[in-house]
Amino acid sequence: MNALPETLLKTLHEVVGDAGLITDAERMHSYLSDWRNAYHGQAAMVLRPASTGEVAAVVRLCSEAGVALVPQGGNTGLCGGSIPDDSGKQVVLSLTRMVRIRAVDSGNETMTVEAGVILQRLQEAAAEVGRLFPLSLGAEGSCTVGGNLATNAGGTAVLRYGNMRDLVLGLEVVLPDGRIWNGLRGLRKDNTGYDLKQLFIGSEGTLGIITAAVLKLFPAVRSRTTAWVALPSPQAAVELIGQMRSLCGDRLTGFELMSRQSLDFVLSHVAGCNDLFGEIHPWYVLIELSDTLANAPLNDMLESSLGEAFERGTALDAVVASSEAQVAALWALREGISEAQNHEGPSLKHDISVAVSSIPAFIEEADMRLQKAFPSVRIVAYGHVGDGNLHYNISKPLGAEDSAFKAQGEAIMRVIFDVTVSFAGSISAEHGLGQSKRDAARHYKDPLELELMRSIKQTLDPAGLMNPGKLL
Ligand code: FAD
Ligand code: MLT
Ligand code: ZN
Repeated sequence: MNALPETLLKTLHEVVGDAGLITDAERMHSYLSDWRNAYHGQAAMVLRPASTGEVAAVVRLCSEAGVALVPQGGNTGLCGGSIPDDSGKQVVLSLTRMVRIRAVDSGNETMTVEAGVILQRLQEAAAEVGRLFPLSLGAEGSCTVGGNLATNAGGTAVLRYGNMRDLVLGLEVVLPDGRIWNGLRGLRKDNTGYDLKQLFIGSEGTLGIITAAVLKLFPAVRSRTTAWVALPSPQAAVELIGQMRSLCGDRLTGFELMSRQSLDFVLSHVAGCNDLFGEIHPWYVLIELSDTLANAPLNDMLESSLGEAFERGTALDAVVASSEAQVAALWALREGISEAQNHEGPSLKHDISVAVSSIPAFIEEADMRLQKAFPSVRIVAYGHVGDGNLHYNISKPLGAEDSAFKAQGEAIMRVIFDVTVSFAGSISAEHGLGQSKRDAARHYKDPLELELMRSIKQTLDPAGLMNPGKLL
């Protein structure tokens, strides 16, 4: 028996048709747990509307019936935001059938796309018109534009291009009562009051359903240099990035830090990945320089920066990719960490941020406090060092019971967040709060900020039917 009234089910079915309704338990399965298999829920049904009109009709019907909705894109989120609770009464609203690229305006350097477009498809569509859409992350083959917007996704090119918030000019949103807000403007300047689109970016499905967006395009990249560099410490990484920024300016597009533990996981679990140096080093960075000129002197810039770093002892070894295949092999070492960590059993994911200059001290302090309180956990630290954003992830101790590790999760997280906040940092730089950091946000966030957030939620979604139990 479905948890929803028969008449509502019938009307929803009429709106979305056979292709847009899933009630069968087996077919619903993949919508009810996350990529890491860390969160599980139940749902009355999964709805897959194919147009903004259908989304609006579904939202209006559910709002009138008091049914809670859980928006979902590619379901690659890392904090449980797209997974329903276990009541079986919520409805998953998947945007994965809304995949149209509605318009390309080359003169305005914009593209208007629907929420279900996969990020990789968007990058390809930009390349087809000789442009770049720069957002890039390990899940780009399955995450969607709607999810990227709802989480204000970051990734590996934020250093040069900013995060998703910086790449958007306009949005179309279905509000919690079913009205459609058409904010699909392609304007770079518009000072006619509050910038409403910013409310929905990063709102994790709690304020409405994003159905389409106007996104910025950038000039295509015509030359690129990628290097893998061994370092003695995070301090050396901070010095190197500072030095490279002043020499290369905006050409520095990627600067990703990885601990040896992170690399060891990749070497153990990701097929085709090899250690590039004869010796084991404590830290590594993946550096990428790019330019819109075909023959930009990127190798010269890289060599000059690394030469200086070798002299100072702040770089220990380096490999520069000499083919596209080698570029891909270097990125595989970095992008493989999330998958590799999954193979090592339960983990605690963190996406904290501090000032770039505080990264070394943060790592030192967090390592010290954790090793004292939980001596055998494995610290898997890596991340987007140019953004001050570290994935200070924790894997269970070797040989430990999953349940024993999970029971310590809350206390481990507290240690890490206490240290983050002591450095005036953020407990979530890019993944969002979802379920996993919702309670922590209540503890660590300024009460006035929480009060303002609650009043915005109350204004837009007074019945609390948009992704309840997430973020707030
Ligand atoms: P989902 O997981 O489906 O949903 C995420 C949240 O957005 C949920 O709260 C959901 O309710 C809401 N939502 C989804 N679509 C809509 C919509 N149309 N309207 C309103 N709300 C909506 N993230 C980064 O920021 N940087 C990284 O480098 C990064 N690397 C990753 C690497 C791997 C291997 C994996 C698995 C994940 C990574 N992520 C990263 C996390 C994840 O990919 C991003 O958060 C992504 O933006 C989520 O997109 P999605 O379509 O999968 O959203
Ligand atoms: C990444 O940058 O690889 C992800 O955001 C981090 C993660 O999987 O924890
Ligand atoms: Zn990340």
